[in-house]
Amino acid sequence: MSEKTLSLIKPDAVERNLIGKIIQIFEDNGLVVEEMKKVHIDLEFAKNFYSTHSKKPFYNDLCNYICSGPLVALVLRGDNAIQINRDLMGSTNPKEAKSGTIRNLYALSIDKNSVHGSDSHQNAQIEIDLFFNIK
Ligand code: CMP
Repeated sequence: MSEKTLSLIKPDAVERNLIGKIIQIFEDNGLVVEEMKKVHIDLEFAKNFYSTHSKKPFYNDLCNYICSGPLVALVLRGDNAIQINRDLMGSTNPKEAKSGTIRNLYALSIDKNSVHGSDSHQNAQIEIDLFFNIK
């Protein structure tokens, strides 16, 4: 079933000029870029976006990092897009990410892990709406 998911190319990847290489991986694996924009979010937006992690010890660092520079937000569309995107990203911790995944190839650390992807239909809807104000 065709569905949509939110992808973020995070500041560490944007800073290293990896936008094109990461989008190429999405496109090579059948995901279509439906919407895309480069934005520099502020701390208030970051705290809202990552609110599910607000009780975690890494929450403040995470929020400060994601607004430390511009990121690229994408709506990806395709059959099973949420799971495919997560498979392409690899594990959150790049040390555990499978060979050939985006985080294995490009992530610097668990914090600077280059990409974010929605983890469920519900969160995809919420996250797309936050970044693009669309359903
Ligand atoms: P992301 O997919 O954007 O979702 C939450 C982020 O928290 C995650 O990627 C990581 O970059 C970040 N993070 C930092 N420390 C941890 C940790 N110990 N466990 C999980 N996520 C972490």
